[in-house]
Amino acid sequence: MHADILVLPGDGIGPEVTAAAVAVLRTVAARYGHRFSFTEKLIGGAAIDASGEPLPPDTLAAASNADAILLGAVGGPKWSDPKAQVRPEQGLLALRKALGLYANLRPVKPHAAALGASPIKPHLLQGVDLVVVRELTGGIYFGQKQRSADVASDLCEYSVGEIRRVVRHACRLALQRSGRVTSVDKANVLETSRLWREVATQVARDEFPDVTLEHQLVDSMAMHLLARPRAFDVIVTENMFGDILTDEASMLAGSLGLLPSASLGSSGALTHCPIDSACAAGRPAMDGRAGVSASPHSGAKDGGERVMGLYEPIHGSAPDIAGQGIANPYATILSAALLLRHSLGLEAEARCIEQAVSAALDAGHLTADLAAGGPAIGTQAATAAVIAQLQLPCQVAELRD
Ligand code: NAD
Ligand code: IPM
Ligand code: MN
Repeated sequence: MHADILVLPGDGIGPEVTAAAVAVLRTVAARYGHRFSFTEKLIGGAAIDASGEPLPPDTLAAASNADAILLGAVGGPKWSDPKAQVRPEQGLLALRKALGLYANLRPVKPHAAALGASPIKPHLLQGVDLVVVRELTGGIYFGQKQRSADVASDLCEYSVGEIRRVVRHACRLALQRSGRVTSVDKANVLETSRLWREVATQVARDEFPDVTLEHQLVDSMAMHLLARPRAFDVIVTENMFGDILTDEASMLAGSLGLLPSASLGSSGALTHCPIDSACAAGRPAMDGRAGVSASPHSGAKDGGERVMGLYEPIHGSAPDIAGQGIANPYATILSAALLLRHSLGLEAEARCIEQAVSAALDAGHLTADLAAGGPAIGTQAATAAVIAQLQLPCQVAELRD
């Protein structure tokens, strides 16, 4: 297959970890006969430095035309003055909004080899396998902002439509897993949360009879997530709660440097299920792959349906370790696997990358964030370990052939 992949390295460790993921994608392309072309553009602080804008028009145009986007991270102290008129993070938010990427999937599945890096007792982590579906284009991030000399406000707004589409996404995903969805809100205080709870209840009851939905308040959820993480499967929540809970959840895996994400947008199937019963049955309208928002993007160049997808680690630009060659690249490499799965429909190749990362971890290739004070390797050595694993036979790919 041929695919145009836009790479947005961004700031801090962003260029280091995207270089690692691109090297892995090149390896996959060579090994399995695909042609991936990579184009790089500026976003965030690097774009502000070059042009004054965090999301220059040519970056947005390239994003709209790409088959998939791989992003590192944006931001850093250089651009963090509270009085700054323009900020790197605005570029990322504008990109998510412009592409309509409302469903942010953040899977959390601890690897045995990284358990030592987690502050949580190992017996609580056995069997943990959850996905947070974070609403990504609404809520307090995008409401009106106001500032006077001594008062500031950020409006938190959600519409029924915004809630419904992301809850549907979570329910479809749950049908591919254990059928359980936990919706997280603050309905005891916030009006947006009361609407969220009402809509989530309706969607599950009317469209997904086979999904068991429970509700949790976000404050106690922050506790339950650490105290009994095995109890959760699909967690759906609004933008800011999802941001915070997933950084917390990274401690189940052991490091922020291990958690990938996929930000998926509409392609017809999710925003308007043409036949409502198809949605209710958990079948995406176009291609029957529930849990993937619609048909793979691979048909896009032939006029087929497209899944717009942006893939990035959940961590930030890590200014404290940038430029040292020690950043953990696994989260970005795993994000590349999600890119292959969700935007290109290359499930076997995606699993081969995931297996290669697991094998690298099992073989003890640990970056400093995972090594718990023991011997650690750098970004390039970790990337090389994954690439070496990819040269070995991958059972999944062989099964497919
Ligand atoms: P951060 O995620 O950048 O770093 C938090 C801590 O985790 C740091 O100690 C860092 O060294 C460590 N860490 C993160 N990723 C790592 C990796 N791959 N390997 C090893 N260690 C890693 O969060 P922060 O320090 O609060 O934010 C720094 C900047 O990043 C801010 O400007 C923030 O806005 C931005 N940010 C961007 C994104 C994004 O682009 N998606 C996400 C989060 C934060
Ligand atoms: C993330 C980041 C972003 C967010 C920032 C950089 C805008 O923290 O992707 O998790 O809050 O969404
Ligand atoms: Mn975050």
